[in-house]
Amino acid sequence: MFRTKTCGELRISDVGSEVILAGWVQRSRKMGGMTFVDLRDRYGITQIVFDNDTDSALCDAANKLGREFVVQITGKVAERTSKNANLPTGDIEILATGIKVLNKSDVPPFTIEDNTDGGDDLRMKYRYLDLRRNCVRKNLELRHRMAFEIRRYLDSHGFIEVETPVLIKSTPEGARDFVVPSRMNPGEFYALPQSPQTFKQLLMVSGFDRYFQIVKCFRDEDLRADRQPEFTQIDCEMSFVEQEDVLNMFEGLVKHIFKYVKDIDFAEPFPRMTWADAMRLYGSDKPDTRFGMQFVELKDLTEGAGFAVLDDAEYVGAIVAPGCAGYTRKQLDQLTDYVKRPQVGAKGMMWVKLEQDGSIKSSVGKFYSDDTLRKWLERGAANPGDLMLILAGPTMKTRKQLNELRLHMGSELGLRDPQKFSCLWVVDFPLFEWDDETQRYYAMHHPFTAPNPDDIQMLDSDTGAVRATAYDMVVNGNELGGGSIRIHDSELQDKMFHLLGLSEEEARYKFGFLMDAFKYGAPPHGGLAFGFDRFVSILAGLDSIRDVIAFPKNNSGRDMMIDAPSEIDQSQLDELKIDIVKDPE
Ligand code: AMO
Repeated sequence: MFRTKTCGELRISDVGSEVILAGWVQRSRKMGGMTFVDLRDRYGITQIVFDNDTDSALCDAANKLGREFVVQITGKVAERTSKNANLPTGDIEILATGIKVLNKSDVPPFTIEDNTDGGDDLRMKYRYLDLRRNCVRKNLELRHRMAFEIRRYLDSHGFIEVETPVLIKSTPEGARDFVVPSRMNPGEFYALPQSPQTFKQLLMVSGFDRYFQIVKCFRDEDLRADRQPEFTQIDCEMSFVEQEDVLNMFEGLVKHIFKYVKDIDFAEPFPRMTWADAMRLYGSDKPDTRFGMQFVELKDLTEGAGFAVLDDAEYVGAIVAPGCAGYTRKQLDQLTDYVKRPQVGAKGMMWVKLEQDGSIKSSVGKFYSDDTLRKWLERGAANPGDLMLILAGPTMKTRKQLNELRLHMGSELGLRDPQKFSCLWVVDFPLFEWDDETQRYYAMHHPFTAPNPDDIQMLDSDTGAVRATAYDMVVNGNELGGGSIRIHDSELQDKMFHLLGLSEEEARYKFGFLMDAFKYGAPPHGGLAFGFDRFVSILAGLDSIRDVIAFPKNNSGRDMMIDAPSEIDQSQLDELKIDIVKDPE
């Protein structure tokens, strides 16, 4: 038997028992005639003691152990004299009677502890060592627990998990495809799915009624902390449902996960907000509702004072930062610098302070009387001691800038606690998004999303104003998931393709199989997909989804460990009939 116990399970009640443990040497220290070894496995760390006076040969062997050696230890559990309250096994230690080196290890390139000395790149190159660290391993344990609970919930509601193919044709999510050349069909390519969208709709036509899949998706897009080129969705679809049914079912899923994984109960229904309100009040379709600081609009109160910046602006918006009237000139300058950064892009920032004694100070005090400024502050429900921050310019652009400033202030004031969770449905998204560059409409969600039935008559006359039956689940300012009720009527689908500027031939070429399927009795259906990696990272309180993926890619889409992507053999290229055009640079 390799081991009788793990390194995480021995307690004071085990004192006196003989045990065999196996694991990795995390650290060893020599103190006088004693050698202490911290032995680690997946379950924890146990202290092993070697006493030179009892067995000097054994102690010599222990002194030769290097970091990350794999060893088997035989010994007796004893109570520790100096206990370690930070370790679950901190009340005991093992008095070693035997040691066997199962495998040696080179000196690892970084220390395998929570506070490691390894930088990001190094840890990614040796990810298999990084995964030995407690803080990384526990993210994968959380991920497993969540996947298990997701399957338990969906199974109990009659969903069945169906696998869909990975070598397919382009899907409609709007990012770039990853493509795979076909050897048997030279010159032709598969695309990897950006999502199983079309397949899950086909499964509804097949009568499967309630489908889900925890599934890899692939998108060739610019990477950020919450985006990976390959990521995992909890992909779901239901037949014979309206938006309300879908929202209730998946609100139930999110609540189930919080309850069974984090022991957090959400008694109230999740709030719902229209997309238009989210943009008006937060300047974002994924507002962080852990804190207030909603926007107030001041345009009507700022007009006619001869101050061109505000007179000429289409939109004047403000947030009120509680308790910040004491900000110094330097702090205000720093905020101004923040909004002027190219990533935010504002031209400048104005401010009004309502001091504790009720007096007013403002960067625009020479243009506006205290009475006028007081009206601004009243609209923002400012209290003495509060600071109003104001941005002005074109409506959508300024709202987005104010969103950045609001999030920045939220972080500065410590209002974005990663252990607090605020969930929200954003509904009534626009069906279309206008693109100035290409001068055409794009589907805001995807082209199979149904218009809101009340807006169908506006499809031609006021295309941009048509609302979709689409919804997003937002948690702490992250888009956790999104979906829609689908078009199941081929005439309406044709119309949609037409409005998106897709010719009949193009539509047939891309989605002919789905259009054909819809001729054979497609049930009304709808669904959504959650980003599983994002879900795990939010519950883990982490900013980046990389930390919850076993083998992630870096920001250039590279796997540093296996060194992919990489060139392939000329013979493989020949078989595929592919020529590489070398960049002259
Ligand atoms: P959507 O494109 O909104 O919808 O994707 C659903 C969810 O997937 C997650 N996500 C990502 N996570 C990590 N890296 C990425 N590159 C990435 N891209 C998306 C997000 C997002 O909310 N087929 C539709 C769903 C439907 O209509 O049912 C779809 O894919 O959390």
